[in-house]
Amino acid sequence: MENNRGQWGSNLGFLLAAIGSAVGLGNLWGFPYKMGMNGGFAFLIIYLLLVVFCGIIVVSIEMVIGRKTGKSPVLAFGELGKRYKFIGWMGVASSFIILGFYSTIGGYVIKYMVDFALNIFGSGSFKGVGGAEYFASVFQNPGISVAFHVLFMALTIGIVMGGVNKGIEKFSLFAMPALLVLLLIVMIRSVTLPGAGEGIKFMFSFSSDKFNFFQAVRAAGGQMLFSLSLGMGALITYGSYLSPKENVIKNSFIIPLADTVFALLAGFAILPAVFATGLDPKSGPSLLFETLHEVFNGMGTVGLFLGFAFYLLALFAALTSSVSLLEVACSHFIDSRLIKGKSPNRGVITIVVGAVITLFGLPVAFDALGSSGMFQPLGLIWLDFYDLLAEGIMMPSAALIMSILVGWVFKDKFMDDEIEKEGNKFIWRGFFKFCTRYVTPVLMTFVLISLVMSFFGK
Ligand code: TRP
Repeated sequence: MENNRGQWGSNLGFLLAAIGSAVGLGNLWGFPYKMGMNGGFAFLIIYLLLVVFCGIIVVSIEMVIGRKTGKSPVLAFGELGKRYKFIGWMGVASSFIILGFYSTIGGYVIKYMVDFALNIFGSGSFKGVGGAEYFASVFQNPGISVAFHVLFMALTIGIVMGGVNKGIEKFSLFAMPALLVLLLIVMIRSVTLPGAGEGIKFMFSFSSDKFNFFQAVRAAGGQMLFSLSLGMGALITYGSYLSPKENVIKNSFIIPLADTVFALLAGFAILPAVFATGLDPKSGPSLLFETLHEVFNGMGTVGLFLGFAFYLLALFAALTSSVSLLEVACSHFIDSRLIKGKSPNRGVITIVVGAVITLFGLPVAFDALGSSGMFQPLGLIWLDFYDLLAEGIMMPSAALIMSILVGWVFKDKFMDDEIEKEGNKFIWRGFFKFCTRYVTPVLMTFVLISLVMSFFGK
């Protein structure tokens, strides 16, 4: 049965896939700006503390649940107790919701990459057009938004159809190193531009009149959950394909560390160039598509190449994340067939699930970031509405419940047995126990409440 499900070819393959799931659009459009707006260096310290006291803990819990049960989230929780199955279902629901909005943005990334390539060959339409104007011509065109959303989903489906080892792992082994190289190239150009220092200053400097501690903790908390792909079973699923030989704890340190390094590199690649161009920093789609387009387009021919490199790296980052989202949903249906003794049929399942998610994402693609005049649920634009359900409510709830379950219901043996398999050592054991029981639940409760409030401007 193990082989029918799939297994990572190596620990490096697992790591790059898991880091790929973590490093995504969140690192590019969220982290650098949030850091600059929430106390710079102080934000970084808060973020790192949250990563240590919650991130690493929940990463290890998810990986242990996955590897112990060898199943995707719903069945994994079902094995731990029927009444916990709903946590797995929340995860599958989150994967639909997050991918539902992620793919619209991923689609814009492809569109920009193609446009920069066209402009390199002289057949593009960038001349004399400002970043905001150009972006409006893209996202307010439903045909373009939908077509590229579908294309992004098709690429994601194509990779996931290949399976754990020949699809996701193989792609990550190529895309992650490529992403790093491209990011370093853009970064080197960015930090050597005249006036780049202002960007670094924005990112790191602390001014006490702008700093609000609670605001910083919640921004860091939401960022951490989203960036580490926590609370929806992505790492349960990836962990279920991991060999018992591998060291779970070591991996739980490496994944968050690498994710944070990528987030900082993204900051160095983006903010200095933004300031050197004399623009204001922003976050979200307007940073990725208005500001950065203006930055690269203003640099002449070199800028066109840099722009192409940037959107290509953003595409690698987005795809290695989106495959983890689709894999969570697909692996559920694959496992459900396997326990009924049927053949897994990964290809068909991936196409069907992927098609349903593509439909599910259509409101976001049509909404044109809220400018369509479409009905808006809870008064939020569709992208934010989906984001609220997943990042605001379900992910922090699931992370909170998981840590309470492991800390108070399943107790020590649950983690110990799995982590110490094949002679591996559980380093920092006391620390993990203490956090799982006390620190992580308290912090996650705070993050959950304050995140929900933030969507309504409170
Ligand atoms: N972490 C990714 C990013 O930063 C997004 C992502 C991928 C994700 N898989 C996830 C978020 C699972 C939450 C849950 O862009």
